[in-house]
Amino acid sequence: MILILYYFFITALGIQTININQDYLENGELFELEDSDYYVIQEVGNGTMVFQVSSVDTQKYLQIELIFLAPGDGEVNLSFTISKNSLPSMKDNKTISATYADVNGYYLRKSYQNIVIPANSFRSGDKFYITNLKREEETTYQYNIRIKKTDSTPCPNDCTSVSLGYCNIGTCACEPNRVDLDCSRKATPIMIDKKLENLTITGTEYFYFEQTKQLDTILLDVGISNILISEYSQIFVYFMFENFKYGVPTPYYNNYSFSFSPDSKTKSLIIDVSGLNYNSDLYRFDRLLLTIVVPDTCQFYFNISVPSEDSEVNTNLMLIYFLVSLAVVLVLTWIIVTLIRYRQRNRVQNEIQQNQIQLSQQRRGQKNGISVQQLDYYMRKILWKNLEKHPKIKEKKIDTIQFESCTVCLIEYDKESICRVTPCVHVFHADCLQAWMVEKKHETCPMCREELNEQSLEKFAEIEKSNNQETQVFKKVDQNIQNGLIVIQQRP
Ligand SMILES: *[C@@H]1O[C@H](CO)[C@@H](O)[C@H](O)[C@H]1NC(C)=O
Ligand SMILES: *[C@@H]1O[C@H](CO)[C@@H](O)[C@H](O)[C@H]1NC(C)=O
Ligand SMILES: *[C@@H]1O[C@H](CO)[C@@H](O)[C@H](O)[C@H]1NC(C)=O
Ligand SMILES: *[C@@H]1O[C@H](CO)[C@@H](O)[C@H](O)[C@H]1NC(C)=O
Ligand SMILES: *[C@@H]1O[C@H](CO)[C@@H](O)[C@H](O)[C@H]1NC(C)=O
Ligand SMILES: *[C@@H]1O[C@H](CO)[C@@H](O)[C@H](O)[C@H]1NC(C)=O
Repeated sequence: MILILYYFFITALGIQTININQDYLENGELFELEDSDYYVIQEVGNGTMVFQVSSVDTQKYLQIELIFLAPGDGEVNLSFTISKNSLPSMKDNKTISATYADVNGYYLRKSYQNIVIPANSFRSGDKFYITNLKREEETTYQYNIRIKKTDSTPCPNDCTSVSLGYCNIGTCACEPNRVDLDCSRKATPIMIDKKLENLTITGTEYFYFEQTKQLDTILLDVGISNILISEYSQIFVYFMFENFKYGVPTPYYNNYSFSFSPDSKTKSLIIDVSGLNYNSDLYRFDRLLLTIVVPDTCQFYFNISVPSEDSEVNTNLMLIYFLVSLAVVLVLTWIIVTLIRYRQRNRVQNEIQQNQIQLSQQRRGQKNGISVQQLDYYMRKILWKNLEKHPKIKEKKIDTIQFESCTVCLIEYDKESICRVTPCVHVFHADCLQAWMVEKKHETCPMCREELNEQSLEKFAEIEKSNNQETQVFKKVDQNIQNGLIVIQQRP
């Protein structure tokens, strides 16, 4: 079944030549690869080859490389796949199902393609089927196929065939201005706050952004600066976070893509770059990769900025924000407290005023009168016969004869009548005045309507007090009269 069909040595290099021709396809037989280097001429669509591994291989990495002599880079319209222990199968006439594939090489139509089969992922006797499915019937492909066995993870193209990077445990660490798995693509770096202007892009070009410290978000502004192209919709921008499987972004593999439209030829993008982590193998952050595809020629501008780029400025700004907000909060609190206090004070004042108004209204409206004790204090009982000894009457030299009868009860006094003398020097029966002032709560003299409330009585008492001697005399007199009269001592 498996048959070595046709090979010969070209020159002294020891490379076997395989010619995959129409006959092979029709016969449906496979090339069995036993050496590590073959020169292949492939004209037909389906070229399947097989190689078998032995026990000495299992600990090693297997690298299968296709290095094209024709056609050139970017024109290789061929899918390179490897399947373990089974032939790759076609799902339809478009999709090929295989264990390993070089998707990067396939989508970029690369003249260098490679597949690495990890060590210890296979057993002795396993068969690997290599199928190179050519999609364009007219072109003849000429390539070298190389099978390598290595102890360490091999890098694509060794990164060195283009001398633009170095191999770091299976990963090509590309020099600046170089991207992709094998560093084969020239790229323009976009730097923070360094605007790229009037950049002429022809066909497909690559760009990358590489950060120097941890960022969360970057702001990318990409736009067209000339209006030469009418077909904006055919201009595409693809983004991809750097990875070591798919390489640069393509229409098939990307994390984000957009196309321009005639009405909005510029476009700002905010890209979350939290997918760009520090890569400790490469001693740098992973890159954000861009592919721009222009059908013709177009002028672009790029500017990239980071919202919180300078952490020091940021901290200062944060501090300023914090202080300003603190000040605002304090001022607001002060204003609120002041307002509350002001209102409280107003309320208290209002209450006091209202109380006073109520009080004065009460005073004016309903009279309180005075108590018996107050009456006794301010207007002491005195026998009618002693009236002439009353200081007021004595002072005013009033003849007591004129006090004939009490104007309250209209009853005539006799010598033993118990009387009271008002500050306005009017005489009444003690009980009559008490009835008038205490019981009926009148605050005026029944005779002359002189005000006789607490305040006015106090005033009168004070005037009286100033004439101390007379008071003393009056007291003495009072004490001398032992007629069962109630003598109320002056307040201390
Ligand atoms: C390639 O040809 C072989 C032999 O005819 C066939 O078995 C295999 O399915 C074909 N592979 C593809 C992908 O067409
Ligand atoms: C695949 O192509 C063949 C011949 O070109 C055709 O007969 C067949 O119908 C196609 N199959 C599919 C699934 O397109
Ligand atoms: C590659 O092959 C496909 C399918 O045959 C074809 O449509 C396409 O034009 C080819 N591309 C190139 C660059 O030759
Ligand atoms: C880019 O082109 C525009 C218009 O052609 C021009 O005004 C501008 O100065 C150019 N900028 C640079 C940096 O060359
Ligand atoms: C970016 O796209 C690649 C390929 O489609 C995918 O494998 C990867 O997970 C994506 N990464 C993120 C962060 O979305
Ligand atoms: C980028 O440059 C364009 C053109 O000068 C300008 O309109 C835009 O505001 C800039 N964007 C940023 C994020 O700086």
